[in-house]
Amino acid sequence: MAILEIRKFPDEILRRKATAVGAVTAVEKKLIQDMFETMNFARGVGLAAPQVGVSKRIIVCNPTGEKADELAIINPVITCRKGKRVKDCEGCLSIPAMSGEVTRYSLVGVKGKDPEGKEFSLEAADMLARIVDHEMDHLNGVLFIDRMGFLKRKLLIAKYKKKMGITCLGRRYC
Ligand code: NI
Repeated sequence: MAILEIRKFPDEILRRKATAVGAVTAVEKKLIQDMFETMNFARGVGLAAPQVGVSKRIIVCNPTGEKADELAIINPVITCRKGKRVKDCEGCLSIPAMSGEVTRYSLVGVKGKDPEGKEFSLEAADMLARIVDHEMDHLNGVLFIDRMGFLKRKLLIAKYKKKMGITCLGRRYC
């Protein structure tokens, strides 16, 4: 296993739509193991492959940090979003030390393949629903800051630039 480098905003790979995985091979299995290790090392609860520089449709989640709660989904597809609309504080390993309020549904249905290549589906609730939805966004080039209000996003980006010592994040954000 290996701890991978986490790509940070405004890395361009975070804005790309990730490609579907064909057959699940040893390469994907190794990547998933490394993603779990990287996520645990960084004390995250979710990670998407583009965040470690691989533009493939793979996400890993773990709301508790317990081995038994590890969830990896290859080619995830959201089948429904329902329940309550919940506003809660969110962060992202690709936008370190920043957080903001994002509204998401409390129940998210998702289907995809497990690391053995077997199809499965599940209904995620509450924190896991938020994580799955956030990681799915990564596969479509969407970041949590895009789902914040305009002024809060502007403030967060200004703070982030200062913290990271970045003078310009590109035309889209300056
Ligand atoms: Ni994230």
